[in-house]
Amino acid sequence: MKHFILFLILMITGLSCSSKKKIVINSGENRFYHIIPKPVSIIDLKGYFKINKYTKYSYWEYNSEINTFMELLNSVMPFSLDTMTSNGTFDNNAINFVIDSTIIENEGYILEVTKSFIKIRAKTYSGIFYGVQTLMQLIQYDTKNNEIPAVVITDYPRFKYRGLHLDVCRHFFPPKDVKKYIDLMSRYKFNRFHWHLTEDQGWRIEIKKYPKLTEVGAYRDSTLIGRYSDVPRRFDKTRYGGFYTQEEVKDIVKYAAKKHVTIVPEIEMPGHSRAALAAYPWLACTKGPFSVMPIWGISEDIYCPTEKTFRFLEDVLSEVMELFPGEYIHIGGDEAPKARWKKSKFCQDLIKKEGLKDEHGLQSYFIQRIEKFVNSKGKKIIGWDEILEGGLAPNAAVMSWRGEKGGIEAARQHHEVVMTPGNYCYFDHYQSLDKNEPLAIGGYTPLEEVYSYNPVPKELNNKEAKYIIGAQGNMWTEYIPTFDLVEYMVYPRAIALSEVVWTPQKLRNYQDFLKRLVPHLEMLKKEGVNVANHLGDISAKFENTGDGVKMTLRNSMPGSFIYYTLDGKDPDNTFPVYSEPGIIRQSAYIKAITYYKGKRIGPLFSRKIKMHKAAGKFIKLLNEPSPKYNKGGANAIINGIMGSDVRYADDQWLGFNGDDFIGIIDLGTKMHINKIKMRFFNSKGAWIYPPVEIEIYSSDNGHIFKIAGALKIRNTGYSKIIQIPIRLIKNTNARFLKLVAKNHGIIEDGAQGAGHPAWLFVDEIIVE
Ligand code: ACM
Repeated sequence: MKHFILFLILMITGLSCSSKKKIVINSGENRFYHIIPKPVSIIDLKGYFKINKYTKYSYWEYNSEINTFMELLNSVMPFSLDTMTSNGTFDNNAINFVIDSTIIENEGYILEVTKSFIKIRAKTYSGIFYGVQTLMQLIQYDTKNNEIPAVVITDYPRFKYRGLHLDVCRHFFPPKDVKKYIDLMSRYKFNRFHWHLTEDQGWRIEIKKYPKLTEVGAYRDSTLIGRYSDVPRRFDKTRYGGFYTQEEVKDIVKYAAKKHVTIVPEIEMPGHSRAALAAYPWLACTKGPFSVMPIWGISEDIYCPTEKTFRFLEDVLSEVMELFPGEYIHIGGDEAPKARWKKSKFCQDLIKKEGLKDEHGLQSYFIQRIEKFVNSKGKKIIGWDEILEGGLAPNAAVMSWRGEKGGIEAARQHHEVVMTPGNYCYFDHYQSLDKNEPLAIGGYTPLEEVYSYNPVPKELNNKEAKYIIGAQGNMWTEYIPTFDLVEYMVYPRAIALSEVVWTPQKLRNYQDFLKRLVPHLEMLKKEGVNVANHLGDISAKFENTGDGVKMTLRNSMPGSFIYYTLDGKDPDNTFPVYSEPGIIRQSAYIKAITYYKGKRIGPLFSRKIKMHKAAGKFIKLLNEPSPKYNKGGANAIINGIMGSDVRYADDQWLGFNGDDFIGIIDLGTKMHINKIKMRFFNSKGAWIYPPVEIEIYSSDNGHIFKIAGALKIRNTGYSKIIQIPIRLIKNTNARFLKLVAKNHGIIEDGAQGAGHPAWLFVDEIIVE
């Protein structure tokens, strides 16, 4: 048997020819394993290792980590097992932890389960830790009657940086929550915890030399209620805050180390620093006083790059570097408005004196000085992608959050990169379109989107791609007041991300992932993790066919069924089961529901389609919408489905940034048109304005148009949707309609977003 196993291991580690692989694999059971992240290689053997009360743990050499491994395994074992020390491994009824220097990958491991023993071999204790995590999942999800399936798993991570982030500033979470966060992430083999510790809304880490940072900076007098974009804004007028003492930080660092998680502490600069300015106003370019911000968003008051500020930051960083043993210190760098620096004589003189180009050059100077200091203490800096502006500090790593562009640029400059683009990695976005979801900042990043992410952009060549050291999921907490809600937003999206950062790209498959995920969700729920479960949510795709709207329904629950109605009746499992896409040609009220194992799961899906003369036809746009707000494609604005007043980032609304809307509808044949109604989103706090003017033209051939109607629009008020009817001149008969809706233009002074171009959102164009 031993030789057989060795043979297998040689095969999977690629040292043997692959032609015999099939024969070997077939000798096993071909069982389905629920391990997440999916290991590099699983080879099934015949039979089981049966755990009994005589089973023991065994190790070659004692290390305190062994205790952690035994504790972890005992938490899922049917029995609490005894240990024995050995100067060799035990082949009989033992679970062996073996440090093996012949294994190449630092965090890799080989887990062998045979009929008579279990062995986890790794080069490092990190590797053994991950082997233990895999064995725990084997016991939790794939073991029945105390029989662990015999298997050889060879495994190692795709990326060395596998991160999750937590913003403890917008809302504060006590040490016990932070530990739970770390514990959970380590179970899915994440190894970096990005702890966002300082912000405009609160400073959360004790700094002995500057006690006011926490006495003053850790508390705000009031917090915004509802959305940042709400008009008017409301506040709770309640003092809120908290911070971690250095003793608590040390304890958390130690806890994380036990879970093989390195903490990356973030001290934001030069922006997101209002809490520090509130404590020590002399850090700013203007006099103050400053408050700890009660509202989300960005503060124009930022650190002033004076010698006093640098001394302060060096003192702060010195204390921080003492507390955190990891190589990286995150220095922020994002969203630092330059308004104060532009007006400050000191800053302008400094720009001249240092020969800098502008305020971006000054930010680069700021970060480079900090980098030099951090490097002098043997550590490295990492910052958000804004640190590229004005020139990257020589040794800095970049966290790419505004898409991948910054990451690509940094990799090309041979700097290390952690990818965390908003569209895939921001867990503060909505994960479901269900209208009962808790309030979130916006966006829509469902599980499948996270899973689909590949952190290595196609634009990079192989050499450049090596600088992508991993990816990270971010949990910003403006709208997340409780830890329960943190868990809800992070899980299961973090589980999807764990596979993004661990599993080889070629082994990843969403349907296979979902099959493995189901028991994890059940187990996490049972363990008291407030994991979200949207696998039963139904999503629909609507495509215009020229004579109707093709509807495709789907969900993410393997082995489930969707039942539906078209007449507005609530369906159950006695109604027709959905099997394939169909074309809708008459007004319909679609309702659908998922059933799994005979039970209803997930929310009721419903959509109304109200047919009109243009519904199901085709439209050509002359101005492109923003890619972010074009999810359903151009034809979505003539499919009979009205965009909702809740979310404009859905598959119905089209959003234009600063541009007019210009579209040509082809009705297929010439017909009489009486009236057109156009619907627009109206959320001035979110910079979204209705148009100022509409013009409609008609044509028989699609080339020569004549005016058919026009309207100027004023006083649009605060209702979220504005529906504007435009009566056409009498006897308008046409095949083609050209519609122009003029953008509001630059937002006026005094309004939110002043000076920026307004957004124009359109859905639907109803032709009667
Ligand atoms: C960020 O989301 N401001 C990095």
